[in-house]
Amino acid sequence: MHADVKSLIQEGADLTDHALESLIPSVDTVPASIHGAMRHSVFAGGKRLRPVLAMQAAVAIADALPKGIENLGAALEMLHTYSLIHDDLPALDNDDLRRGKPTCHKAFGEAIAILAGDALQTRAFEVLAGLQCPPAATVKIIGLIANAVGTVDGMIGGQVLDIESEHLKPTPELVEAIHRAKTGALIRVSVVSGGVYAGATAEDAARLDRFGRKAGLAFQIVDDVLDLTVDSAQLGKTAGKDQATEKATWPAVYGIEQSLRDAAQLIDEAFAALDPYGSRADGLKAVARYLVDRKN
Ligand code: IPE
Ligand code: IPE
Ligand code: MG
Ligand code: MG
Ligand code: MG
Repeated sequence: MHADVKSLIQEGADLTDHALESLIPSVDTVPASIHGAMRHSVFAGGKRLRPVLAMQAAVAIADALPKGIENLGAALEMLHTYSLIHDDLPALDNDDLRRGKPTCHKAFGEAIAILAGDALQTRAFEVLAGLQCPPAATVKIIGLIANAVGTVDGMIGGQVLDIESEHLKPTPELVEAIHRAKTGALIRVSVVSGGVYAGATAEDAARLDRFGRKAGLAFQIVDDVLDLTVDSAQLGKTAGKDQATEKATWPAVYGIEQSLRDAAQLIDEAFAALDPYGSRADGLKAVARYLVDRKN
């Protein structure tokens, strides 16, 4: 990783971790088991890419990190972690390893894992309600994020399509619909909400949306490729699971080489939406490039 983008991501991740530390109840807050479970999954070692995307989108709009944006990042990360806890449950992907640690249900049992996912979701919206941006922006952000994790072209809808498509022969249209919804929607809204937090106009938000759509799809294409090309130790999650469960993935349709070309091309196309911001968007572009260059 280039030194600049490495430090950019590290700084954003540190800000996010600090916020998460203060926003999630401590392990000795009653009932202790659920707070232990929430913390186990949140602090297991995620890359924090959604918060970093929100922060760099804000920089593209405001030319600096707006005060308090780490709480938006923390809320996005809580929602993402909730989606991972539920994704790993026996009823969904049935995974034992996540972020290099036992999955939440392996460590705490299924009941507490389900509730920990639910609790991260409700806490995320509580944190969003208290954001330090103007009230109209807060309301806008809450609506956009709720929609992005919902059932219509959102995260939950995508998860439904994903599990209902196991063992079917995947078509290009099906895989694109799954990827845009299950993963793309939260990436896209991370970018857009970061911009709105920083005062984006409707035109700015539309540009960030175009960028986020392409970057979000590229991100899940790379996730699919890494499942096939990297081992579990490096991934921090079980490698080779998609083929074993006959998931509808991008490489299942196009092969690994074409998938990597598609991801790189999507990122190049995404950059075009950021032209009006000039060098203010350099950070956002660098993080987007990392979304496809990453090795875990
Ligand atoms: C993994 O996301 C799950 C998907 C949505 C593809 P990340 O690769 O961002 O996982 P963490 O947060 O770093 O663990
Ligand atoms: C996960 O997709 C998407 C969500 C969690 C919403 P995957 O099932 O491909 O994610 P990994 O590979 O388990 O991280
Ligand atoms: Mg899954
Ligand atoms: Mg999974
Ligand atoms: Mg995957």
